[in-house]
Amino acid sequence: MDFLMFQLEADSIIPLYEQLYTEIKQAIINGTIEEGVKIPSKRKLAEYLSVSQTTVEFAYSQLVAEGFISSEPRRGFYVQNLAELALIEQRTSIIVQDEGSKASYSIDFSPGKIDTESFPFSIWRKCSKEVISESNKDLLLLGHPQGDYTLRQQICTYLYQSRGVRCTPEQIILGSGTEQLMPLIIRLLGEKAVFGIENPGYPLTHHLLLDDQEKTVPISVDADGVIVSQLEHSNATVMYVTPSHQFPTGAVLSATRRTQLLSWAYQAENRYIIEDDYDSEFRYTGRPIPSLQGIDQNERVIYLSTFSKSLMPSLRIAYAVLPKQLIVKYKQKYSYYAATVPRMDQQILSKFMESGYFAKHLNKMRKIYKRKLEIITKTIAAYDPLVTISGEQAGMHLLLTFETVKPESELIAYAKQAGIRVYGIQEYLSTSDNLFNKPKIVLGFGGIEVEKIETSIEQLMEALKIKKLSL
Ligand SMILES: Cc1ncc(COP(=O)(O)O)c(C=O)c1O
Repeated sequence: MDFLMFQLEADSIIPLYEQLYTEIKQAIINGTIEEGVKIPSKRKLAEYLSVSQTTVEFAYSQLVAEGFISSEPRRGFYVQNLAELALIEQRTSIIVQDEGSKASYSIDFSPGKIDTESFPFSIWRKCSKEVISESNKDLLLLGHPQGDYTLRQQICTYLYQSRGVRCTPEQIILGSGTEQLMPLIIRLLGEKAVFGIENPGYPLTHHLLLDDQEKTVPISVDADGVIVSQLEHSNATVMYVTPSHQFPTGAVLSATRRTQLLSWAYQAENRYIIEDDYDSEFRYTGRPIPSLQGIDQNERVIYLSTFSKSLMPSLRIAYAVLPKQLIVKYKQKYSYYAATVPRMDQQILSKFMESGYFAKHLNKMRKIYKRKLEIITKTIAAYDPLVTISGEQAGMHLLLTFETVKPESELIAYAKQAGIRVYGIQEYLSTSDNLFNKPKIVLGFGGIEVEKIETSIEQLMEALKIKKLSL
C-alpha cells in the first residue's frame, strides 16, 4: 500500500476527503498507480491513513463518478483505463522524469564518466573485508566531524607528494562530494562575499550562485584559463577556479595568470581563491603543475578536490583544505555537524591509500586515459582543419572546435538523433551572450572503452555530417 502513502493535512481548509481524492487522481494520471491495479478497501485505507471510513468513502465515490476507478461488486475498486476517459486535464500529465526514464544514448561522451572496466574490484573488496569486521566496532559510532583522522592523514601525504599542497590533517574537511562542500565554503565565507565564477564553467557554480546575481560575477575564460584582468575590474572577493584543467574548456591556467591571480587575492583582506583541482591526477604532457595552494604565501587558497574522477563518482568523497583562519571559523560555526561520509567508506579508502593501491590505480588509469586520448587525437586528425582539439593536456574531457556555419545546437541535435550524447560549450555559459564564434563540443572520453573510441568518434563525425579531409 506504500503507493498510497499520502500526506493529508488535518488542519487544512481543504476537507480530508477532497485532499485524498486529489492525491489518488494525480497518482492515477501520472502513472504511479497503474491501470488495472486494485486499490485497498475503504476500511484498510482508512486504517492505513488514520482517517475515517467516511472520508475514504467520499473520495472513492467521487473517483468512481469521474471514471478514474470502478467499483466491482464483491471484488473491490480497480483503476480504470485513462485512454477511455475523455475529460482528463492535459496539464496534469506533467511527469517529473527521473534518470532512468531519460533518453538513452548508444554512445555517451558525458564528461562525468570514468572507465568502469578497470576498477580494481578485488582489491577494494579486500580492503572492505578488512574494515567490515567485529574488531572495528567503533566504526558503528560517529567519528570526527571533519572525517576520520587516518584518512585525512593519507590525503595530506598524497596531496603534498602529488600536488605540492601544504597542509596538516587538521585543515582537511571531508564531504560527500564537491557538491556538498561548496555550499559549506560559501556559507563560511560569509554574506558579504561576492563570487567570481568561470564563464563557461562548472554547472554547480551556476546552480549554487547564479540565483543571486548580485553576489556572482561571471569571468570569461580563454586559452590561458580565466582572464584575471576581468576579475581585477570586478567587485568579486572570492574567485572559483579550475586551474589545472579548466572545466569545460580544458585550458591550463598560465604561469603569468597564476601569479596575477594570487596577487589579486593579496590585495585585500577578505579575498580568497577556491581552487577546484578535480581531475589533476591525470596530466599527460609536460611536468605536473603544482597547485595554487602550494605556491600561496598568504593562506588565501581554499583547495578542493574529489575522488570522483580518480576512483569513482559514486563514492561521494571529496575534501577541502582550508586556510588556517578559515578552519578556526569552521570549528566555531560548523563542527557541530557530523561528517557526511560513512565511516566504513572512509576507512576502506584510507586502507586503499595506505597500502599503496591508490597510487598504483592512478598510474594504471593515467596510462589508460592517455591511450584513449592518443586514439582520439589520431582519429580527429583525419578531420583537421574542420575539427580541432584543445584542452587535451589533462583530465578526461577535451574540447572540439568546428569550422562550420551550422550552429552548435544543430550539431548537438544531429548527434542526439544518432543516439550520441555530447554537450555544447554553450550549455556551460552563465551569461546569455555567446562568447564563442565557432561551435564547440565538450567531449568526455573517460567512459568509452578503448576499443570503441575510434568508431565512436567516427560515428559522431558522421552524425555531425563532417567529412574526413586527410588520411
Ligand atoms: C569542475 C568539477 N569539480 C568537481 C567535480 C566533482 O564533483 P563531486 O565531488 O561532487 O562528484 C566535477 C565532476 O566530476 C567537476 O567537473
